[in-house]
Amino acid sequence: MPRPLCYRRVVRAVYAARFGGDDPLSNLAIGGRPDPRPPAGWALVRVTAASLNHHDLWTLRGVSSQPLNAPQILGCDAAGRVEELGEGTGGAPPPGTRVVVHSVIACGACPACLAPEAGVCHRLSLLGEPPHGGALAQLVAVPAANLVPLPDGVDDEAAACLPTAYLTAYRMLFTRAGLGPGASVLVQGAGGGVATAAILLCVQAGIEVHATSRDAAKRRAAEELGAASTFDPGDLAAARELLDRTGGGVDAVLETVGEATWGLSLRSVRPGGTVVVAGATSGANPRAQLNRIFWRQLTVVGTSMGTRAELERLVALCASGALRPLIDRVVPLEDARSAFVALAAGEQRGKLVVRVAH
Ligand SMILES: NC(=O)c1ccc[n+]([C@@H]2O[C@H](COP(=O)([O-])OP(=O)(O)OC[C@H]3O[C@@H](n4cnc5c(N)ncnc54)[C@H](OP(=O)(O)O)[C@@H]3O)[C@@H](O)[C@H]2O)c1
Ligand SMILES: [Zn+2]
Repeated sequence: MPRPLCYRRVVRAVYAARFGGDDPLSNLAIGGRPDPRPPAGWALVRVTAASLNHHDLWTLRGVSSQPLNAPQILGCDAAGRVEELGEGTGGAPPPGTRVVVHSVIACGACPACLAPEAGVCHRLSLLGEPPHGGALAQLVAVPAANLVPLPDGVDDEAAACLPTAYLTAYRMLFTRAGLGPGASVLVQGAGGGVATAAILLCVQAGIEVHATSRDAAKRRAAEELGAASTFDPGDLAAARELLDRTGGGVDAVLETVGEATWGLSLRSVRPGGTVVVAGATSGANPRAQLNRIFWRQLTVVGTSMGTRAELERLVALCASGALRPLIDRVVPLEDARSAFVALAAGEQRGKLVVRVAH
């Protein structure tokens, strides 16, 4: 039953009150926002757990694929319960169902969306990007088609880790690089959310995984997770050792760090191997070294997020017990700032989760 227009609840939310400046965390606010309205085909989810991503920091810095308008509720990753279904959502999981939200929102109208086999949407956006509200709120509006029911074996906090970091890592490894058991991989920036997810996914799939990190404690942590070797990205002797160990280079490198590690990525992959790029935290314009790419016949592949079907496979992996997302800490919504401080300082090991409700 639609609520009358004059009635609007206030929801607690974590949002960007403004963007840019020298101190992006000073743009962060926690407070009341009007409740979202699900348009036709959309649903309202009562969020129980959400997780942070580097994407939220980019938004606070004012970097976004869409023009930003404050206030913008942050957060790409939500798990919770279906609260309400808008019109035209027949077949969607009914209110009360536990769900994780696929946060990729395709426009539904561009040539790629209308093609018989949907391609990459020309106007793709995510939860937490304009014009959509984000996951770090008591209620979030999402396309009903993006609701993925959760089996009992997957708790809300684990589920909240999946839609961005784990989905991106999953697609990098299995869809874009096409890797399987016995392959070898180098993951750059071992401490990050995507990187940690990639290490865990490699281990469960029987892929030999090596990792770099600037930080000795994060390198040890990556080895505890199952990395066969780790080294500082500036340690050239260690990079040469990796070539010896892997018989001339790894089959694929997962690159999310960008400028700081691009040269190492091109040197570490075997001739004919693949470098998969999903991010550029340290800068997006490294020296391209095209000569190395063509002479060694490398494949450089871009990727972003993943499909609903890939998210369903991740949920099934968690339900089977084969994958358990690594959670650094869980903080209540009102204390979300402390998690943002840790993310900005790069202190976390694994995902930072915000408990929004029980
Ligand atoms: N395309 C997509 O769909 C997609 C999806 C998810 C994420 N991303 C992007 O991927 C990147 C990582 O995301 P995340 O959420 O995993 O971030 P995160 O948890 O904040 O991790 C940041 C990572 O960057 C590394 N790093 C930062 N500055 C560095 C530098 N100067 N030199 C070497 N390493 C550096 C850190 O590695 P160490 O501290 O271990 O050295 C750490 O691994 C972000 O840029 C994000 O926007 C893209
Ligand atoms: Zn589209």
